[in-house]
Amino acid sequence: MSDNHIVIERPVSAGGAVQVITLNRPDKKNAITRPMYAAMTQALRDGDGDDGVRVHVFLGQPGAFSAGNDMQDFMAYAMGGELGKEVLEFLNTLATVRKPIISGVDGLAIGIGTTLHLHCDLTFATSRSEFRTPFVDLALVPEAASSLIAPPVMGHQRAFALLAAGYGFSARQAQEAGIIFALVDEDALEDAVMQAAEALAAKPPQALAIARDLIRSREYRQDVLRRIDEEAQLFARQLRSAEAKAAFDAFMARKR
Ligand code: COA
Repeated sequence: MSDNHIVIERPVSAGGAVQVITLNRPDKKNAITRPMYAAMTQALRDGDGDDGVRVHVFLGQPGAFSAGNDMQDFMAYAMGGELGKEVLEFLNTLATVRKPIISGVDGLAIGIGTTLHLHCDLTFATSRSEFRTPFVDLALVPEAASSLIAPPVMGHQRAFALLAAGYGFSARQAQEAGIIFALVDEDALEDAVMQAAEALAAKPPQALAIARDLIRSREYRQDVLRRIDEEAQLFARQLRSAEAKAAFDAFMARKR
């Protein structure tokens, strides 16, 4: 399935072995809507179930990987609307895909635009990229199991700075903190991502799958799924809080 805000390709140049999921809503800085989550979930499932696909890739647009969850969707739920299952299904799928995931970031990486990469195996970013999760500023809480995954990777203080205090991390800081693999030039980002993906796709798939499973064990993934669920319940409760509604109102009103 290819929503026009999510473009799914399997480039012939990579022999169809690399599935590229591109966020394509540049006018909204790639803010992610419920249909976009659903399209990404379907793509991950399809790619994982297809023996021809060996590697998943996530890319954004120049200047914006993603500005995070769509604020209108947050607002709709805060006003008593339906939350929908799309976000949770996406997170659960992302956390349990069997094939390696590589991502490339240029520019803004906010909220899920940052936490998505905690589930990736290699992330390349341009030096102008910025990683930020203003959860608490929006009266929300960390999601995507970031509260579990980030602390052992980054250390408590950097995880707190990112996930609770809402500090922005430059690409260099993110690399130093161990949440991205490498820094690349803007015009080299896509090539770096595709080269890494093609190199992985050419490796013996069984050995690669075993190596990945050993590094992120089945037990750990169960913990990740549990934490995704736990965070989601707290997140949903906070979304309906008066303090969250005030924060969304402020975002909606900023240009009036
Ligand atoms: N949801 C919905 N729309 C969003 C969005 C989001 N998360 N982020 C940006 N947009 C929209 C803006 O409303 C604007 O739309 P408009 O042109 O119709 O008014 C458009 O994208 C461009 O954003 P703008 O704010 O004008 O660009 P900017 O460069 O001044 O600022 C951001 C970019 C990303 C810093 C700013 O838009 C922002 O803070 N967005 C919210 C990020 C966020 O908190 N995400 C949730 C994390 S949990």
